Amino acid sequence: MNWYDERVAPRLIDAVCSWGGLERYRREVTAGLAGTVLEIGFGSGRNLPYYPASVTHVYAVEPSPQAWHDAQAHVAAFPGVVELIGTEAADLALPDASCDHVVSTFTLCSVADERGTVTELARVLRPGGTLRLVEHGLAPSPRVARWQWRLDGLERRIAGGCYLTRDPVAALTRVGFEGRWSRSGFRVAHTPWSYVTVAELARPS
Ligand SMILES: C[S@@+](CC[C@H](N)C(=O)[O-])C[C@H]1O[C@@H](n2cnc3c(N)ncnc32)[C@H](O)[C@@H]1O
Repeated sequence: MNWYDERVAPRLIDAVCSWGGLERYRREVTAGLAGTVLEIGFGSGRNLPYYPASVTHVYAVEPSPQAWHDAQAHVAAFPGVVELIGTEAADLALPDASCDHVVSTFTLCSVADERGTVTELARVLRPGGTLRLVEHGLAPSPRVARWQWRLDGLERRIAGGCYLTRDPVAALTRVGFEGRWSRSGFRVAHTPWSYVTVAELARPS
């Protein structure tokens, strides 16, 4: 990994992820969770303060040592166990059906192997377990989508491999996840980054 991707990109990404406007999404995707949660793309642990006390164990997957280092204050304040189990969401060191929930906030946009990742998430989630997601993606507006395709390569280079043109809910349903609820829309202005989906999907029993 080069110096930019190792030191600069994680800080840049974390600065964007620290924006207060994302708080309501973090609250929504963590509400009502209980038991064992797998969080992919753990970043600097910005979801941890929102997990209810009923979440007892968080398996974190995060490739950036810088982000994991920056997460330590949140990890120390968390009442349950937070365990870093690996660096690659497409290759999880967990047994089948070992998690009650999966949380992914602004991460499915960035995994290099999207198909491998969603297949692994289906494997480790217990039957009936749920996946909560917040993600930006390809907009239904042709004007915005045109810009997303134009900027996609540049975004991937400067923002840790982030795609602007993915449809994460479609990727999950292709491997058998069933939608429970989902809400999509432009967060603020109509920009290539602001078409956001919040969703819950379940692994069929
Ligand atoms: C935009 S950040 C979001 C961080 C955090 N989820 C949040 O909401 O603040 C995307 C995160 O995914 C991580 N990531 C990238 N590729 C990954 C992979 N293959 N497996 C797991 N995490 C990955 C990045 O290191 C980064 O921390």
